[in-house]
Amino acid sequence: MTGRDFKRSTAARVLSGDSDSDVELRGWAARKHTVGGLIFVLLRDGTGFIQISAKKGLTEPASFEEAKSVTMESAVVVRGTVKDDRRAPGGKEVSSVEFEVVSRAEPWPITKTAVKSRSFLFDKRHLSIRGPKAIAAMKVRAEVIGAAFDFFRDNGFSLISAPTFVQAAVEGGSTLFPVEYFGKEAYLSQSAQFYEEASLAALQKVWIYQPAFRAEKSKTNKHLTEFWMIEAEQAFADQEDNLAVMEGLLSSMTRRVLERRQAELRTLGRTLKEFSLPLPRVTYDEAREIAEKKGFGFEWGDDIGAEAERAISLSQESPFFITDYPLSARAFYHMTYPDRPKVTRSADLIAPEGVGELATGGQRIHDQADLMKRIESQDLPSSAFSWYLELRKYGMPPHAGFGIGVERTTRWIAGLKHIRSASLFPRTVSRISP
Ligand code: 4AD
Ligand code: MG
Repeated sequence: MTGRDFKRSTAARVLSGDSDSDVELRGWAARKHTVGGLIFVLLRDGTGFIQISAKKGLTEPASFEEAKSVTMESAVVVRGTVKDDRRAPGGKEVSSVEFEVVSRAEPWPITKTAVKSRSFLFDKRHLSIRGPKAIAAMKVRAEVIGAAFDFFRDNGFSLISAPTFVQAAVEGGSTLFPVEYFGKEAYLSQSAQFYEEASLAALQKVWIYQPAFRAEKSKTNKHLTEFWMIEAEQAFADQEDNLAVMEGLLSSMTRRVLERRQAELRTLGRTLKEFSLPLPRVTYDEAREIAEKKGFGFEWGDDIGAEAERAISLSQESPFFITDYPLSARAFYHMTYPDRPKVTRSADLIAPEGVGELATGGQRIHDQADLMKRIESQDLPSSAFSWYLELRKYGMPPHAGFGIGVERTTRWIAGLKHIRSASLFPRTVSRISP
């Protein structure tokens, strides 16, 4: 120990120049190489990566030996002096005086020869999340979520919470995960929408951020069985008001990432462009024609399949809406147009580049008799929706809302090939570990 006063700092602060010159850094040895008698360790500390050097004469003798023998991913504490060095990543280096291995790592199992498949990396996800791309994706994801908190606060929406154990199927019975609930039938929540609707009379404009569960058997690059959803709902609002919130939210998420996460976008090789509002709109009928022309035609009334959605997504430069879905492709609660009883006042927010759906929103039926008729016409068990129906007896104005998938949105903004890369520990039809 030198007795010098090294101030706690971080890689990010050192690189930005906002740091004392004698610093202490705590992190992990991401890489090591030796040039002549010089040892270079790339230190990762959660804020970024910074080069540490160790040199005989400058580094204390015992510390020099520690640096020399440090294994990849060991946890280390380094004390040293910040120096400008054009050859170092980020133009700065910390010349170590003291180098302490706090927890020595065994040989790192994720080597080029060991990685035979993408799924190996996800089997080792508890370790592979330390990679620069995984870190960059998580930083982008955090900005997406952070932007939502600011956007809703600035626009007067109250944050609520809702249960995860539920009895009603918001989005239809086929993707429910049943759970044993003391002898009662229960499921994991697919969407908090009904709880949002109940909260309207108390709070007028609400939003929520919580997990949603779908027993999606489909193995695709955009389906998880557990994902995080941001949902919003407002009273005395129609579908136009709703679309404005949807596009405003996506725009502020995108801007936030562009402002704060340029380095991460570069790490991910992502060119993200800002887009202007209002977003373009394509009706379901027009979308059907686009798909048809590209050879992915489908029947009017059907949901838009994966290939057709991809073709439609590729037809636009910026995110856009597909509006006016047929009732047959939508959940029971959707309001239709008075003169077009088979067409709903709903929309999907679609990302370009072939990515597809990020969000779904619409205006809800607020009249009790109309909702009852809809439930009966679709042969749904009205008992499961008793409190949802009862809301309509006690002052339910026109209202509308939407849900946007956090991982789908992160996937598009960060330019990730597969949705699982947008989740720290993804859950898919074939994965429930780690
Ligand atoms: O389109 P969805 O099913 O709509 C609802 O759940 C509405 N009740 C929301 C509302 O109006 N409050 O789901 C909303 C979004 C989708 O657009 C998609 O981004 C995401 O949630 N999502 C999934 N993300 C990952 N994996 C899955 N299996 C997903 N299912 C839906
Ligand atoms: Mg949807």
